[in-house]
Parts: sequence; C-alpha cells; structure tokens
Amino acid sequence: MWRFVQVSDPHLGSTRDGKWNNGFLCSMMPDVMRCLKRDLARIKPEFILATGDLASQQTRDATFAARDLMDSLGFPYYPMGGNHDFVVQDSREWFIEAFHAQLPAKRTWYSFDHKNLHFVVLDAWWMWSDDTLHDVSEKTVAKMQHKHLKGARWALPPEQLAWLDEDLAAHRGLATIVSCHYPAIPIPARRRRPNMEDAGNLENGGDIIAIMKRHPQVKAYVSGHVHMHFVETVEGVTHIATGALPEYPTEFREYLVHDDRIEVRTMGLSDTSFAARSLIPGNEWTSGEECDRQVAIPLA
Ligand SMILES: [Fe+2]
Ligand SMILES: [Fe+2]
Repeated sequence: MWRFVQVSDPHLGSTRDGKWNNGFLCSMMPDVMRCLKRDLARIKPEFILATGDLASQQTRDATFAARDLMDSLGFPYYPMGGNHDFVVQDSREWFIEAFHAQLPAKRTWYSFDHKNLHFVVLDAWWMWSDDTLHDVSEKTVAKMQHKHLKGARWALPPEQLAWLDEDLAAHRGLATIVSCHYPAIPIPARRRRPNMEDAGNLENGGDIIAIMKRHPQVKAYVSGHVHMHFVETVEGVTHIATGALPEYPTEFREYLVHDDRIEVRTMGLSDTSFAARSLIPGNEWTSGEECDRQVAIPLA
C-alpha cells in the first residue's frame, strides 16, 4: 500500500477574506499550511495532488508566494491551475516558471505514472459569453471573480480532448486517475441547498466522460473548485470533488492505494480552530454525507 493526498483550492498568497458558502479565509492560510505540514509529516504521502486555485490573485508575485507555501509542506507535489491561477495572458508562463521543479513537463497539462497508477492532469480554458474558448478570462468576469463567478464558464479545449484520448490509449495497462480543477459533472442534486453558491463545472464534461468510458482503466476523476466535498459515480468512474482549504470544513483527502483498490478518506486538520472560524452555522452540509467522505474504488 502507498498513499498520496489531495489538497484543493488553497488560494495562497492573499490576505483577502470573503464569504462563499462559509467564511473564505485566505488570511489564515499561512497558519493552515504550517498545521498541514505537521499533519502530513505524520501521514507521509508519496506526493500531493494540488487541484488548482493554488494562488488567489493574478500576479507573478502571488504565483511565487503560492509556490513557496506549497514547497514549505516538504513533499513533492503535482500542481494544476484553476480559475484563480490562469486568468491573464502571462498566467501560465508564471505558473510554469514558479512550479517547474514539480512539473513532469514544462506544460500546464501533463501525465505521469506513479507505481501502479497513471495520472492525467488537464487545464481547462475560459468560455466567453459568445461561446468562444480562450486561455484568458473575459475582462468583465476577471474583474468580479474575487466576489462572484456569474457568467464564468470553462471547457477543455479540443486539443486536450484529443490528447486525453491518445494518452489513455497509450496507457491501457495502468489504472488511471484523471484530474482537473473543475468538476466534469454538476454538484449532485442531493447535495444542493437553496441559495447555495455554485462555482459550476466544465461545459464539455460530457465529452470527457465519453472519452473515459472508452478507456475503462480510468477509475476516478479528481477535482476541486466547488469548495465542498462530493463523490458521485458516473459511467463507472468515481468523480471526487474536494473542498477548499481556506473554507469549512478545511479538509484534504487521503488516497490509500492498494493493488486491488483505492481507499479515499477525508482528513481534517489537527487544529480544528480553522474550520470553526470559517463555519457559518447551518452550512455544515459542505462537508458532505458519509458517501462523499469515504469511498473504496476497485482497481480490478
Ligand atoms: Fe477555489
Ligand atoms: Fe476554482
């Protein structure tokens, strides 16, 4: 058995606090990362899968501040970009420059093998209001995204859809996890609440699901972005969305990889005061039902 962990949406390098479904407290992240470092030292994951929104503000300095805090955890990690990382023309250049030591290739989308698993990391683009796809955000959306995501949409560009299909065809023998900041499916109906904030999912998630269906070695699709936990199985693939570290329940996921299965567990920080500070009473539901918090994925 070996293990890796998933950390999502740390929104590092920002002192701006706000509200999503619970308090969205970026200013506590340096302390959260110190606690996470201690907690991971006990768990000893082989690596961290960091599912996007690593930085919160769109500057070169914020990207490097995020890199320094991720490095401070003391474990190898595989970074990917989210809607807070890839917004302006230079975003991906800053990202590659900052995270090059962790990236398997000088690219924002890539794949790698670790022991008995293959991993694919995707980089979705912005869908503008005229339905065209761009690597940068529409200006009106970028300006408001620290407050809300109204009008923001994303999709995987055709080039990456084709590459995903090719990459999976070339790695048929290995059980595979596909990962992207954005979920491929909407927040399930059972998890929805009146007036909840919904950050959305990929516009063409159905295309990714169809590709994964053609390659049955794909076992899981792992994402963040919605700042809440959910687990849902679609067409034989377990979709795992993991909450944000600066927001209640301030948790991460542990993946225990056996020869025949992956056990997914949800782990709180040892210092429970971060979650308590973020919680808006009544909104505990973002931590999910039991089935959103642990699952076993067969690898056979
Ligand atoms: Fe986020
Ligand atoms: Fe996001």
